[in-house]
Amino acid sequence: MPGRPSLLRNWLSLSGLVIVIGSLFSFLLLFLLDSLAHFSNPYVGILTYFVAPGFLFLGLLLTIIGALRERKKLGEAAGVLPRMVVDLSRPRDRKLMGMFIAGSLLFLLLSAIGSYHTYHFTESVQFCGQACHKVMEPELVTYQHGPHARVACVECHIGPGATWFVKSKLSGTYQVYATLFEKYPRPIPTPIKNLRPAQETCEQCHWPKKFVGNLDRTYNYFLADETNTPFTVRMTMKVGGGDPTHGPVGGIHWHMNVGNKVEYIAAKLANGRWVPDETRQSIPWVRIIDEQGVVTEFRRPGFTNDPAHFAIRTMDCMDCHNRPAHIFKTPNKAVNLALALGKLDRNLPWIKSNAVYALTLKYTNRTEALRRIATLLAEAYPPEKFPTQQPSVRTAIDVVQQIYRDNFFPEMKASWENYPDNIGHLIWPGCFRCHDGKHTTADGKRSVKATDCNTCHTILAQGQGEELNLLTPGGQKFRHPGGDDVDGDCWDCHTGGL
Ligand code: HEC
Ligand code: HEC
Ligand code: HEC
Ligand code: HEC
Ligand code: HEC
Ligand code: HEC
Repeated sequence: MPGRPSLLRNWLSLSGLVIVIGSLFSFLLLFLLDSLAHFSNPYVGILTYFVAPGFLFLGLLLTIIGALRERKKLGEAAGVLPRMVVDLSRPRDRKLMGMFIAGSLLFLLLSAIGSYHTYHFTESVQFCGQACHKVMEPELVTYQHGPHARVACVECHIGPGATWFVKSKLSGTYQVYATLFEKYPRPIPTPIKNLRPAQETCEQCHWPKKFVGNLDRTYNYFLADETNTPFTVRMTMKVGGGDPTHGPVGGIHWHMNVGNKVEYIAAKLANGRWVPDETRQSIPWVRIIDEQGVVTEFRRPGFTNDPAHFAIRTMDCMDCHNRPAHIFKTPNKAVNLALALGKLDRNLPWIKSNAVYALTLKYTNRTEALRRIATLLAEAYPPEKFPTQQPSVRTAIDVVQQIYRDNFFPEMKASWENYPDNIGHLIWPGCFRCHDGKHTTADGKRSVKATDCNTCHTILAQGQGEELNLLTPGGQKFRHPGGDDVDGDCWDCHTGGL
């Protein structure tokens, strides 16, 4: 039909086509760049797999809308809609048809490659950790310094399987939106309620049969005195096992014994009423169901409520190992470690106290913090009083600033203070949420076992110098360095800054 007006000859379709061609070229170029470059940059990924395809679809949409409108207009002008006739005996129609089929195939191929890459890209550590740089920085940095630095974020946060994939992609879409429009909470709340059960994440790599036996742990401390006196505790952690076919069941991993089930309720008292404790720091009710199905229930005094009114959670790895990847070190722990490694000079008087003090002050942003740390330490060791030790002072400033960068994120309000660590009992109640001796059965005859200092670990040696060579396999009584008979719970006094 010679002279038939093209439906594409209107401004909407034409601009659509320009966008299509433009985005197709940028996609191809970016795709080449992303495939050939030796570095990986999250922004290139976002441009290639989100922005360029987005524009491609936009362009196509505009072209189609334009063509449809044009068709309607022509139809109105002529009184009837022009009839579409495809006649393959006509060379022009054959050519058009061929082009159409080739074009569709190319488009399908590109979108297949594109969506495959988009899928992989959204699963990458870059996407999770770097793309939303500011928001995820605390988790990314602590993850990179943690024992799981080589495990991709999705291995713990999403895991395998289609339903979780859809679930996480849906909530992920919201998160991308929240990040773009700064609608996220600071600090990012934890624990993540819809974190996948540990059986499907952690146990893919650490299955319960694998952990049997004891661990030998050495903790190096330095006291907050003029000489930064060292104090070391060496303990056997009775990690034990959780699978009877592999070895005796017992010790700390007893909770994960395949046959037992430990359940609990996290609730706290607010205005005389028990309300759910989102942070899971207060646990007034625990129940064990053993292999024979025998149920034992323990309660803290005061909790008389009906458990059915609360969410009952089955204990899993994350109830103890809740910070396996994102470890925000406390000022005390980070400074002790730097002293033990010799990065901080022990001969600087009061360096333990001064460094911890500088780290515990409140800062509103990182620049301010780094500057204050430098002035505080420089003022504590002026050249007139410490002429020979100036190199150590400069190193100390660098080291403390680095500790700050690695563990404190004031812009996101992320630091040890906002993220309880449940593995021990020094700074947070941790194990003592249940093992405090106050959870008893209804008749009051039995309380949760393992409250004695030697049930979870035994102290092999403690003190300094020669004392550390005297090993006591049966365990010694803990000699508290800040004065012997301390009353109260460890976490009442120890806050991470002490
Ligand atoms: C070894 C498993 C593991 C890996 C790998 C991992 N996470 Fe996590 N992540 C966790 C657990 C467990 C929590 C919940 C912490 C809690 O309950 O206290 C968490 C919490 C978070 C939170 C909530 C805030 C917080 O700190 O509690 C964010 C955000 C997060 N992870 C992001 C990431 C990103 C980004 C990566 C990759 C760079 C990553 N995670 C890798 C296990 C992991
Ligand atoms: C993809 C495999 C993988 C997954 C999933 C995984 N881990 Fe790990 N985990 C590792 C590797 C690898 C190491 C380091 C090697 C080692 O120490 O055995 C490690 C180390 C650890 C350690 C010892 C840490 C230390 O200080 O040395 C703990 C505890 C741990 N993981 C707990 C967990 C928990 C809890 C989860 C689930 C939230 C989890 N892991 C998920 C692979 C994994
Ligand atoms: C009752 C609390 C608790 C539960 C539940 C628990 N763990 Fe542990 N786990 C510990 C403690 C305490 C240690 C000793 C490690 C330490 O002192 O840092 C440990 C040690 C480990 C280690 C060895 C760490 C190393 O440094 O070699 C791994 C791996 C581990 N746990 C994985 C898991 C996994 C996987 C699960 C879930 C199936 C789990 N744990 C459940 C408390 C627990
Ligand atoms: C949610 C509550 C809860 C938490 C948190 C918890 N436990 Fe337990 N644990 C129990 C219960 C319940 C028992 C069974 C006690 C009994 O039979 O009297 C138990 C038993 C034990 C036992 C004795 C196992 C045996 O061989 O009989 C050890 C050791 C132990 N826990 C260590 C720990 C350590 C270490 C932590 C912290 C890392 C911890 N628990 C955290 C509830 C908890
Ligand atoms: C329910 C089990 C349990 C009981 C009971 C227990 N502990 Fe612990 N303790 C732990 C675990 C688990 C850790 C390891 C924390 C970690 O891996 O960082 C720990 C760590 C410690 C540490 C090193 C702390 C640190 O993080 O630097 C000391 C010291 C200690 N315990 C002393 C004691 C004393 C004293 C008692 C008796 C009042 C006691 N513990 C009772 C489980 C227990
Ligand atoms: C009444 C307050 C109080 C209680 C309760 C308390 N401590 Fe301490 N602790 C101190 C003081 C004060 C120091 C001395 C700090 C210093 O000189 O560095 C200290 C020092 C320590 C140190 C060495 C210093 C360091 O770098 O951390 C350890 C380890 C320790 N305490 C463990 C424990 C454990 C474990 C418990 C619980 C069984 C506990 N403390 C309970 C007040 C307390």
